Amino acid sequence: MTLPQASDIVTRELRGDILLVTINQPPVNALGVDVRRGLLVAIEAADADAAVRAVVIVGAGRNFIAGADIREFGKPPQAPSLPDVCNRIEACSKLVIAAIHGAALGGGLEVALAAHYRLAIAGAKLGLPEVQLGLLPGAGGTQRTPRLLGAKAALDLILSGRHIGAEEALTLGLIDRIGNSTDIAAEGLSYAQELLTNQAPVRRTRDAAGLADKDAGRIAIDAARKETAKKSRGLFSPLKIVDAVEAAQDLVFDAGMQLERTLFLQCLDSPQRAGLIHAFFAEREVLKAPETRSATPRAIASIGVVGGGTMGAGITVAALDAGLPVVMIERDEAALTRGRANVEKVYDGLIAKGRLSADAKAATLLRFSGSTDYAALAQADLVVEAVFEDIAVKQALFSELDRVCKPGAVLATNTSYLDIDLMAAGISRPADVIGLHFFSPANIMKLLEIVVPAKVSADVVATAFEFAKKLRKVPVRAGVCDGFIGNRVLAVYRQAVDAMMEDGASPYQIDTAIRNFGYPMGPFQVVDLAGGDIGWAARKRRAPTRNPEARYVQIPDRLCERGWFGQKTGRGYYLYPDGARTGVADPEVEAIIDAERLRAGIAPRSFTDEEILRRYMAAMINEGANVVHQGIALRPLDVDITFLHGYGFPRYRGGPMKYADTVGLPTILADIRAFAKEDPLFWQASPLLIDLVERGANFDSLNQSK
Ligand code: 3HC
Ligand code: NAI
Repeated sequence: MTLPQASDIVTRELRGDILLVTINQPPVNALGVDVRRGLLVAIEAADADAAVRAVVIVGAGRNFIAGADIREFGKPPQAPSLPDVCNRIEACSKLVIAAIHGAALGGGLEVALAAHYRLAIAGAKLGLPEVQLGLLPGAGGTQRTPRLLGAKAALDLILSGRHIGAEEALTLGLIDRIGNSTDIAAEGLSYAQELLTNQAPVRRTRDAAGLADKDAGRIAIDAARKETAKKSRGLFSPLKIVDAVEAAQDLVFDAGMQLERTLFLQCLDSPQRAGLIHAFFAEREVLKAPETRSATPRAIASIGVVGGGTMGAGITVAALDAGLPVVMIERDEAALTRGRANVEKVYDGLIAKGRLSADAKAATLLRFSGSTDYAALAQADLVVEAVFEDIAVKQALFSELDRVCKPGAVLATNTSYLDIDLMAAGISRPADVIGLHFFSPANIMKLLEIVVPAKVSADVVATAFEFAKKLRKVPVRAGVCDGFIGNRVLAVYRQAVDAMMEDGASPYQIDTAIRNFGYPMGPFQVVDLAGGDIGWAARKRRAPTRNPEARYVQIPDRLCERGWFGQKTGRGYYLYPDGARTGVADPEVEAIIDAERLRAGIAPRSFTDEEILRRYMAAMINEGANVVHQGIALRPLDVDITFLHGYGFPRYRGGPMKYADTVGLPTILADIRAFAKEDPLFWQASPLLIDLVERGANFDSLNQSK
């Protein structure tokens, strides 16, 4: 018998005396208002129907429930609220069983926690990832989880936001059993039947005894608060999570729920929530480049990497880790030996940290081979070159690739700045040439700029996106120009930084101001880490085309001329005594800066940290706008993702363009115009920024998928 349907989204079906409630809200069964209403109606129907003795909740499709509908945040709330729905589920007089497959995340797990019994099958992903969105679990998660698992395990789960599998969930006590078939409804129904047969009682998580040991709870809460204050610098929601779990320990359930609600709403209101959710959606939007929709990717089963230096080795490791076989080409045997050693060094580092076994390393390296003969690339489906940053070297190499690679092979360059159209133009198959700009260390950094030259075919672009997915990288589509998206914008705000240094701010003050904004490192620390010689080479390359009228700060060159390239040479802007990783301020650098100010005829002035930040961000945002305006980036969100994943921009601020929207574009434009009074050549407002301000629009208005 089928009861009347509340909606197609939450369906009810009576199977004997068990009501099967199925949530069917593609793509991931998020708990939008219709789902919440449907669940409420289903539970009330179950309570009211004497024929129903138990309720089984399942999700249709690939997931149980992925959580609250994130798209509803920031919009006017619609009843019923999720906490009310969860409370109603828990209050049900009939047994309620959550049968979990796929994701049971955030509000999804909170629904399951409100049920009386929980079952999951292999492949289930359970977790409370709200912290990653600047939130806390706001539908009882902070109150029910500690009651079930104890404060320590609950805090670990909620503060980390990590996903756990069914086995770990069972061990922790988050679920009651693991089902062994893949038919989730059948598993749920048979579990419910068994519970009924055994006369299992309605068992409410609010009454669970996980917090009975008050001393253990107090110790865990105090430790978490201390650790969180240290680790989550600048973040709003983590300490609120600790407060909410403390309330679970100290207050009765309903009072704890009230406090959770108050704290949840504070998080919801915070700009950090908006920034983090922007990042969540932007990460998904960048995948939707036009070519990924219009073309079918080519098959990629084996990779060639040319060059075994810093980048070649990192790219090799990234591909090996993705399970792909890699052949590395180097100039001679000695260089090849070094290239292989560079690869092995990464795995040896993991072994030393206990994160990899020697056997696993050996198994991975079985997929690795090396050669000094380009002919070894004959079977590669995709070749990435990471040889010296020199157009003549790259062009000669592309001719070689043209000669040896099979038809249809994708030929990619990892160049940082050079003209990929030029590389493509010299060979017989320009449609196969693309830029794959990895970031250092390439096996770790998530960003991959996919640089699209004029003649490349759409399926090669689609293949690059597919390759990024295999490597678990975050791809951003970029156009050809000097520096693509990231390094082009970087070059501009570096100039702003150097100008501030020459005008009177010390590199150490600038670094501190930028770190206080949320960056893990300041811009001078970054130079010292990456190596000052890289920027030096780029500056020398640009020297012949540099506008002689443009301001050029020579301080970085003075350091490079002394061989002070940063960490690798023991000193740069900072001193690194005895190979230290954290630098100390260097009075000699300050003396060089003073001398340069004198040479340039500049009387140093002081900067507040706020002024430093405003100039830094205005330069970045303005060039970001130019990059969008010129079609180098598809949308502002592509610039955001580039800076979040390649340049350490604080994720909770959403990226530079999102930050600009938060501050307000008129303010940014006014700053640029004010700075232009000192240096009109450098501070030229982007036409896009001017246009948006005139129209009263913001960057986000341009973020619809193209
Ligand atoms: N709300 C709205 N849309 C969501 C969503 C959510 N919670 N989760 C995923 N989506 C959307 C994605 O934006 C994407 O949309 P698109 O196709 O238009 O780009 C689509 O669903 C598919 O998502 P993915 O591409 O990420 O699919 P995957 O299969 O790779 O991953 C997933 C599935 C693991 C569920 C992943 O989407 C995910 O981690 N989702 C977010 C989970 C989460 O953070 N939940 C907590 C929400 S906050 C909350 O619950 C508050 C509560 O405590 C009150
Ligand atoms: P590197 O100097 O560490 O390595 C280059 C390697 O290429 C050397 O091992 C050299 O022996 C080899 N090589 C040179 N010519 C060759 C040829 N014709 N055939 C085979 N091998 C050859 O340089 P790095 O830093 O790895 O840079 C490589 C490329 O990656 C450059 O284009 C650079 O701009 C780019 N890049 C560098 C980044 C970085 O942070 N180092 C970041 C992103 C891109």
